[in-house]
This record gives sequence, C-alpha cells and structure tokens, in this order.
Amino acid sequence: MTKVGRREFVGGAAAAGVALAAAGTRGLAARAARAADARVEVLVGEEIGTISQDIYGHFAEHLGGVIYDGIWVGENSKVPNTGGIRTALVEALKRIRAPVIRWPGGCFADSYDWRDGTGPREQRPRRTNFWVDAPEWPDGAPKEGPGRYEPNHFGTNEFLRFCQLAGAEGYLAANVRGLGAQSFYEWVEYVNSPAGTTTGAERRATGPLGSRDPYKVRFWGVGNESWGCGGNLTPEEYAMEYRRFTAAVPRYGVDLRFIASGANVDDFNWTRGFFSKTAEKGPFLFGGIYGFGLHHYAWNVSQGRTNDWFAGKGDALKYDEGEYYELLREADRMESLINEHWTIMGQYDRQHRVKLVVDEWGAWYRKGSEVDPTHLLGQQSTMRDALLAGLTLDTFNRHADKVAMANCAQLVNCLHSLFLAHEENFIVTPTFHVFEMFVPHMGAKAVRALFSAPEVRWTRAGKPAEFWGLSGSASVNERQLTLTVTNPHLTEAREAEVAIRGARVTAARARVLAERDVHAHNTFASPREVEPHDETVNAPGGGLFVYRFAPASVTRLSITLG
Ligand code: AHR
Repeated sequence: MTKVGRREFVGGAAAAGVALAAAGTRGLAARAARAADARVEVLVGEEIGTISQDIYGHFAEHLGGVIYDGIWVGENSKVPNTGGIRTALVEALKRIRAPVIRWPGGCFADSYDWRDGTGPREQRPRRTNFWVDAPEWPDGAPKEGPGRYEPNHFGTNEFLRFCQLAGAEGYLAANVRGLGAQSFYEWVEYVNSPAGTTTGAERRATGPLGSRDPYKVRFWGVGNESWGCGGNLTPEEYAMEYRRFTAAVPRYGVDLRFIASGANVDDFNWTRGFFSKTAEKGPFLFGGIYGFGLHHYAWNVSQGRTNDWFAGKGDALKYDEGEYYELLREADRMESLINEHWTIMGQYDRQHRVKLVVDEWGAWYRKGSEVDPTHLLGQQSTMRDALLAGLTLDTFNRHADKVAMANCAQLVNCLHSLFLAHEENFIVTPTFHVFEMFVPHMGAKAVRALFSAPEVRWTRAGKPAEFWGLSGSASVNERQLTLTVTNPHLTEAREAEVAIRGARVTAARARVLAERDVHAHNTFASPREVEPHDETVNAPGGGLFVYRFAPASVTRLSITLG
C-alpha cells in the first residue's frame, strides 16, 4: 500500500464539488488533485485474473443454532418453510447469489457418519454432538436438544435440497479422523451415482427428501483442521491420508474437486510439510488437488488482550477505538497469509495447479451477544463486521489468481454470520449487505487498483499504531467497472481522486454502507437499523472524478465505461 502523508493534501469536499461542476476534464483533473486527500487509481488494462464466484461462499456446521433453528425448522413448524427448510433464508441467499455452501463442519465433520443422516427420519440415530463439551457452554450443553444430541434430521439429502433451493453448490467435508476411505467412496456413491445403479443411489431416493437424480457434487473436503480436531496429525501423516482418500474415487462423470485440509493462520510448517511430502511421492499428484485450505479468524489479540482462546476475544457489541482498529488489522493479515502460503506452495507445485481455499474466515468474539442461549458460538454483528467483510472480500478479489474459494464462517446464528434467526424471527446482518453489494465482482475480471491515503493512527499500549487509510478492489465485466472501497477511519471521510486509466467513464453511481455509530447493528426488534443507501456520483466524463468515502464505510462504485 502506498503511504501518503496528510500534509501532501489540501482542500476539502466543498471545493471538489465546485470544481466538478465548473471545470472541463483537464481543468477538473488539476482541481481534483488539489482538493482530494486520497487517491484511487484503477488500471483497467492490468488484469489479475477472473474472480471465482466461489470466493463468495458460505459455511454451515452442526454447531449451536446454525442447522437447527437457523436452516432447519422442520416441516410441521409454524416458521414458513420449504420441506422443513427456512424459506426466508433461502430467499435471502438467492439475493446474494450464494455460490457454494460447506457442510457439515468444521470440527463436527470429523465426528460425523454420513449414513446417520440418511433414510426415513424417524429411524435415524441420535448421536452425541461434537460440541457437547465445548467450554463456551457456561453450564454445560443444554440437557436436551441438538446441542447435546444430534438428531440427524438434517442429513445429506436435506443439505443438498437446501443448496438446490438456494441455487448453491454443496461442498461436503469428509470424516478423516473417524471413518475410513471406503466410507468416503460410499458417500460419493450415495451422492453422485446415477439413479437406480447402486445401493447408494437407491438409498438416496428413499426418505422424505429422497432424490432419484444424482446431486453431482463437485467439491469434497478431505477432513477439516487435520492438525487439530481433525486428528492431531502431522502434515506428513495428513499428506498420506489425503492420498489414500483420493487415490481412486469413482467419478460418475463428475469433475470432482478435492480440497486438502490446510493451515491454521500462519502455520507455514503445515503447508511446507504437506507439499513437500506430496512432492516426494510425485509432483504429478498436485494435478489432483483442487484446493488447499486456509483458516483465519480475527479476534482482539492486541490492545491488552492475549492469544489465549478466551482472554484474547473481545466483545461483539462493546468495543473502543483501539479494539475496533486492532480487529481490522488482525483480519487484514489475510493478505500476507495468502502471499506467504502461496509462495511455499509454489516451491513444490511450480505450476501452481493447487489454489487456495480459505474455507473458514471471519470475526470471533466471546460469548454473550448470541440471540438465544442454545446458539453456541453465536454472536451479534455490527458495522465493524461489515468493514471486516469488505476488506477481506477485497483481499480475495485482489488475489483472484490464487484464491479459488472462500467460505465465511458461519452462515447463520454463529461467528461472523450473515443472518440471525430464532423461531419466527429472521434478520440480515450488516455483513449480508456487503455480500450483496459485492455481487457484481462475482465472475468478473479483477484488475489492478492502487490506493493511497493518509494512514489511520491510534494508540496501542501507549505506543502509536497505524493502519492503511483506504483499500479495496476493482473488477471489470464488459463495460461495467466495479470498485469497492473500505474507509476504516472512525471519524474522517476520505476525499479521493478516482482515476480510471485506460478507459473513459460515462456514468458512475455509489452504494454506501455507513452509519453514524460503528456499533450499529440489526436486531429482531429493529431489523433495518443498518442498510446501504444509493448516492449519485458527479463523474462528468473522462477518466477522473472525486468521491468522498464516508467514515467507517464500505462503498461500491458502479462505473460505466465508454
Ligand atoms: O467455525 C468454528 C470452528 O472453528 C470450526 O468447527 C473449526 O474448523 C474451527 O476451528
């Protein structure tokens, strides 16, 4: 990021407005440069790569209120549902063109037997949920209910029906810790083998949401966090498991895409170990790995907090200036994590056939703001989370050549959720609005964009700390240029000169997510507290205009090119 000192800029918003109205394009450029205190330059000719729509993916685990109460309400519920699936959620997912949903975990995946969730529902077994002893339950898991005993009412058919309704693809995570490779092949058979051909296909067709037609699922995760809850394996041990699981899986005409369990944050040893062990057996194997995972959650490790699982986490709703900036800074590590893991991957997989799949990302707070006590790891979401989502999605866009998929953790009633639901109540969070604003990036060509702005400054443990002043990403789809920008500054707007290099601007408009108070959030009682609004942009032709980015905002500029 280019750093620009505040003294290099003069002028203000009013001056820029006058300049725009009065000046021709050349005069405008000169006047705008004087008025702006920041600069955004979009290099339309410098393509990075196509933004995979799957970067805008989601994640749903059998954890707290995600599946039961969040997605699944049951056919006899008074909550409007489609075959037991919450209709409002399905409709909202269509609005953001949800491309892919990961399931059934997370840590739950490596304790799950997919067979338990098949066949007639009343005959399905009850099992102890992976999260039963989670220390986040204040007095232990509730005595009854899915938090303690998994009823298996929501299984493979229910999940894939949910995906079909929402228009998304499923991404299924296999149990490596508890089940063998044979069970994995049989799950693939159950899901993908043609109607009437196998016992798996026959079983798939039975039960309340039975499907004669194969689901043709492409994305298969081989375990989850295999360095931890997925088996406490070393990367070398996991590389061997990965090979056993994926060596000869029947395809049934489907382009299967296997995703290896990747590193936690900056565990570069995991990446090096997995790639070096795989290369030892034969670099040709990289051709069979679609993606390598990466998990990174942001919590308040600085500002007096530690990396301790509990003590390190801040509150979802109550935070001061320092905690606000520190959380964004922690999330912003995503950029260097992508670059560093990618560099290591390239040392073994020289053609970079394996892409990154960031299949868990988001903010993680301590308990206390969940909308219902049964929602383990449930938390509220404020404007701060919207900014975190904006800067993270922009990071993925800027690395469109490296990141094939990403999954925000988790969809509903959990960490960084887009939705909160309890019984008949259902709301979208500020993060949902960011996903909706970013839809035009999906499948578009990412192009280079440069940002320079005065840095944000605050105090960390008595010492000065700083963070970038503006950041974002740009993409082009035919004549439509989409530029999304985050201004993290809590109180200062950024007056920016926006220069589009290599194309002429014929029109521009803005959609802005910004509230007077960054703590603003939606509740069941007040569901539209945070909503984006549209603004007109004075872009009088040529390749240059001035735009004022509101404090603590995420903005989408939709720019029509001539
Ligand atoms: O998203 C919650 C948990 O975080 C997941 O189950 C696990 O993969 C990660 O540690």
